Amino acid sequence: MSERIIPIVDHLYAASVPQVPAHAADVQGQPTDRLHRPLHDLRISVTDRCNFRCTYCMPKEIFDKHYEFLQHADLLSFEEITRAARVFIDLGVRKIRLTGGEPLLRKHLERLVDMLHGLRTLDGTPPELTLTTNGSILARKAQQLKDAGLDRVTVSLDALDDAAFRRMNDVDFPVADVLHGIDAAIAAGLAPVKVNMVVKRGTNDAQILPMAEHFRGTGVVLRFIEYMDVGNTNGWRMDEVLPSQQVIDRIHAVHPLHPLEPHSAGETAQRWAYDDGAGEIGVISSVTRAFCASCNRARLSMEGKLYLCLFATHGHDLRALLRGDPRTGLAPVSDAELRAALAQVWTQRDDRYSLLRGTAAGQSLRNERKVEMSYIGG
Ligand code: GTP
Ligand code: 5AD
Ligand code: SF4
Ligand code: SF4
Repeated sequence: MSERIIPIVDHLYAASVPQVPAHAADVQGQPTDRLHRPLHDLRISVTDRCNFRCTYCMPKEIFDKHYEFLQHADLLSFEEITRAARVFIDLGVRKIRLTGGEPLLRKHLERLVDMLHGLRTLDGTPPELTLTTNGSILARKAQQLKDAGLDRVTVSLDALDDAAFRRMNDVDFPVADVLHGIDAAIAAGLAPVKVNMVVKRGTNDAQILPMAEHFRGTGVVLRFIEYMDVGNTNGWRMDEVLPSQQVIDRIHAVHPLHPLEPHSAGETAQRWAYDDGAGEIGVISSVTRAFCASCNRARLSMEGKLYLCLFATHGHDLRALLRGDPRTGLAPVSDAELRAALAQVWTQRDDRYSLLRGTAAGQSLRNERKVEMSYIGG
């Protein structure tokens, strides 16, 4: 009989405190990393909690009543997040995505949206502000998020069939409530609303066509995501990945599609349009067609650790810089010092896990402890 190995997980991921260069004020300009990639997107995870237990992200047998989520005092405050975001913007960030866990579980999130909306990019415009949510309480929150300055939302939805959806979220949550959330987001003008479907072969791939047909012609951009080996808890297997090309083939056979040009360099999704003008879909193919070469995304966890890759095994402790660290006698740093320390971290970045996945280097990374999706957000 085969045995399921249940890994031990807690939030104590390896991290180190970035060095502050001696002449911080002299560090100017926007850094690029070792693969010449600029910093463009900042993804901020605001909570490690979620009211769903999607089997590929927060499997119930691990994220159970014994699992120790972070305490409020460990979380960055909205002021700390905004300060860090301001410095990231100064380094070139133009787009900010709030994620979780489920970000709408963080109390008064609209206040954070309002604070981030008040920032200005190097062009003098507000950063593009977006949010990834499971949609469960979006119907209640959409309008106040829009009023606070949120530009758009992306809703995760893995099936249209109610029974299939309840099985995937594993908390028996009805699909109708998420669909109401999507309608509320459209009504509030959080456009274009995107819907992300993680495809697991043999689990929800029968939902590809129903999902495509439901959202065709609605203005919602549906994206199909290849199931990835994020974290160490989801028991990922390659034979459960359905290559995006097969997703396209299945839809194209019924509703012909043609490829579209990318909106911008570094985009995760390849875009396709329906020949009959019913809108567009996207595929995110991190497994079969890695997009690390143009990856311009930094990720900040709810407790202030910076990760340079979704598959990172090591974080950079910004909270220690923001608050100071009594254990080491480190005093809180100035904005110029924080900027210089972050610039140095980005300059040294060479992460490209998806490109390495099939290689010996990828294998050795796989044996290390990676951060969980619920901790770092999509
Ligand atoms: P949009 O600007 O709305 O298109 O955002 P996005 O392209 O950044 O997409 P989104 O945040 O919705 O990400 C969708 C999914 O793509 C995530 O849930 C992840 O599964 C995957 N993804 C996003 N960024 C990365 C990345 O840097 N690396 C990998 N491997 N996957 C990613
Ligand atoms: N593979 C691909 N996408 C994932 N997500 C979570 N776990 C995985 C995984 N293993 C996506 C969810 C959601 C976002 C938060 O991350 O669908 O859209
Ligand atoms: Fe929650 Fe999203 Fe993870 Fe599902 S994928 S458990 S909704 S954070
Ligand atoms: Fe970026 Fe890492 Fe994803 Fe590659 S695997 S695209 S480097 S986050």
